[in-house]
Amino acid sequence: MTTVLITGGAGFIGSAIVDAALEKGWRVRVIDSLRPDVHGGDYRADPRVEFITADVRDPDALAVALFGVDVVCHQAAKVGLGVSFEDAPDYVASNDLGTAVLLAAMARSDVERLVAASSMVVYGEGNYRDSSGRSRRPAARRVEDLDAGHFDPLDSDGRPLQPELITEDAPLDPRNVYAASKLAQEYLAAAWARSTGGRAIALRYHNVYGPGMPQNTPYAGVASLFRSALERGEAPRVFEDGAQRRDFVHVRDVASANLSAIESLAGPGEAFRAFNVGSGIVHTIGDLAHALSRNTGGPGPVITGEYRLGDVRHITASSERLKSELGWSPLVSFDAGMAEFASAPLRAAVT
Ligand SMILES: NC(=O)c1ccc[n+]([C@@H]2O[C@H](COP(=O)([O-])OP(=O)(O)OC[C@H]3O[C@@H](n4cnc5c(N)ncnc54)[C@H](O)[C@@H]3O)[C@@H](O)[C@H]2O)c1
Repeated sequence: MTTVLITGGAGFIGSAIVDAALEKGWRVRVIDSLRPDVHGGDYRADPRVEFITADVRDPDALAVALFGVDVVCHQAAKVGLGVSFEDAPDYVASNDLGTAVLLAAMARSDVERLVAASSMVVYGEGNYRDSSGRSRRPAARRVEDLDAGHFDPLDSDGRPLQPELITEDAPLDPRNVYAASKLAQEYLAAAWARSTGGRAIALRYHNVYGPGMPQNTPYAGVASLFRSALERGEAPRVFEDGAQRRDFVHVRDVASANLSAIESLAGPGEAFRAFNVGSGIVHTIGDLAHALSRNTGGPGPVITGEYRLGDVRHITASSERLKSELGWSPLVSFDAGMAEFASAPLRAAVT
């Protein structure tokens, strides 16, 4: 029987992985610090889970947590765009120091397999083509353009570039502290694999949504912000012009991607490999707001024209590598997922 240690297993995505692993009949251990800015109410673990309340930066707790473990599924992280640059030390400490301490403990315990949660944010702006069909990676958008309502990245002649699906071989270009900390986690995992003979997979999740999403933190995803607004009887407020392209992937599909990755590590393969995890279907933030308004019977979205400088304009994934190499496929369609999400329970508010 597989024994898996899921770090951050009390979180939004970690909980879905716990459920999926239990369903498979695996033995599940969780290490989670129950960060107070994440967990508002009491947290109750499934009684079938061996739950260790501890930080992944605690080597003594890790030594206990790793005992008898076949594979680690590393989800613990400080997530989201952050409130200000002053969050930087906490991102680096939680995500990078946390991963380094975990990997060192794995090296000591001879645990040789790792699946780590990464993110689409490692790509920065997505891939684009200019009007002559050449591939382009645009620079960060300029405040003057954004203020003028020109949200799409432009080519040198001032024409909007055409977005396309990003693949794992695209250049990496993290553009905020969270993104930098996620990419550093990947590099650490690759370095650990090379120096210990272990194997690691990084799963670059796109926009994950579904039951149990956090509802009121500055780190919450856009789907939950819209859902929470609608619950208060307010219209979802959509930044820019609502045409930002994203890939919304259901949390149960992300959990099944983790299980596929874990199972694949039992066979031969490269020391380190990264995979996009997305539905493969492009939707806009406006589509999302409309779908949630419709499904909740609430007010229609308001397009505000506001922007956040750290946001990328379009980022959508090709998940073909995950499908072809690991045999994964997403099962929850956008329509079915949004219909469920409109009334699904969200995670207790942090007060
Ligand atoms: N939610 C998304 O859309 C999304 C997208 C891309 C990547 N990710 C990644 O997926 C993973 C899970 O994200 P989530 O949305 O479930 O976040 P979450 O905040 O719901 O869960 C993270 C969990 O990790 C725990 N944790 C944080 N730091 C810890 C530490 N140092 N030691 C022990 N436990 C710690 C928290 O208490 C929490 O339970 C993260 O690595 C995140 O970067 C999430």
